[in-house]
Amino acid sequence: MNSVGNILEQIRSDAMESLASASDEKSIQDLQTRFLGRKGSLTRFLRNISDLPKDQRPEAGKSANILKNKLENAFQDAIKTIQQKNLAQESGLDITLPGRPIFSGSKHPLTLMNQEICDVFTRLGFEIVEGPEVELDYYNFEALNIPKDHPARDMQDTFYISDNVVLRTHTSPLQIRTMEKCKPPVRIIAPGKVYRCDSDITHTPMFQQIEGLMVDENIHFGHLKGILTTLVHQIFDDHTSLRFRPSFFPFTEPSAEIDMQCVMCRGNGCRVCSQTGWLEILGAGMVHPAVFENVQYDTDKYTGFAFGMGIERIAMLKYGIDDIRKFYDNDIRFLNQF
Ligand code: DAH
Repeated sequence: MNSVGNILEQIRSDAMESLASASDEKSIQDLQTRFLGRKGSLTRFLRNISDLPKDQRPEAGKSANILKNKLENAFQDAIKTIQQKNLAQESGLDITLPGRPIFSGSKHPLTLMNQEICDVFTRLGFEIVEGPEVELDYYNFEALNIPKDHPARDMQDTFYISDNVVLRTHTSPLQIRTMEKCKPPVRIIAPGKVYRCDSDITHTPMFQQIEGLMVDENIHFGHLKGILTTLVHQIFDDHTSLRFRPSFFPFTEPSAEIDMQCVMCRGNGCRVCSQTGWLEILGAGMVHPAVFENVQYDTDKYTGFAFGMGIERIAMLKYGIDDIRKFYDNDIRFLNQF
């Protein structure tokens, strides 16, 4: 090492050794003055660089400035540590304790379920559409082949806003709204909130559904079966069987209710499935020609299927939740588990 290097090294080791034995703020400040102050040893060195042979000056200046930064940082850090220690002693605070974690929110289980179902359908080429929650009687009932006074209206306890305006009781109006706007082929799902005047451990006055609709030439019941089986296999697992039971909806013919094998007992029968081994998860069917006529679709050319499911129901089965009201109680202990 040349003599410039020796001098700087000497200053450095002096400073670090003194710093190691300095135990209060005042003695560190004194050290700062001793090395970096106006008459400090490093300051003096820097000031005298011009006395060095010309070829040594750039290197000496550079090394001295690097050392100056190093020492400034070391003194600052040491002061900070001492201040923190003092603060801790004064306030009785133990800064070695782990910090309190920052609370971070999480997605609501129904949002997660909704996203998971929508993801399955978007992968299958379905588009997501949305519509109004305050809906015309026409879209909620009439156009879906449920005329006024039709007994099927009794199945859905409706909140009426006026004679012709309701809170939608299902997401099926999106079938009509979509078909009015688009010519076939149609492949949509419609997630959203729906309302019925009903409340117990399996019903809340507001709940969420996902509607599905596929219309094209030559669409048949096999397509419906395939799509719904894919859904259940992706949300639950590949070994979950499905059962298609004949049913009735005014807007589909034939209609079916679809059950899946009970997730709790694997079909052996338990309390959750009322010993049947099956759980109902959705309604579906082939779109009724009367519905197509309401949107001026050619019933000779086009066929389609539709389905509707409650998101809460699927989420309850997926996450093992026994009371639907838990989704809406806003109890953070429940919600934090997702
Ligand atoms: N909208 C029906 C309900 O809320 C569910 C449903 C059944 C939707 C059959 C459909 C369907 O699209 O084809 O009870």
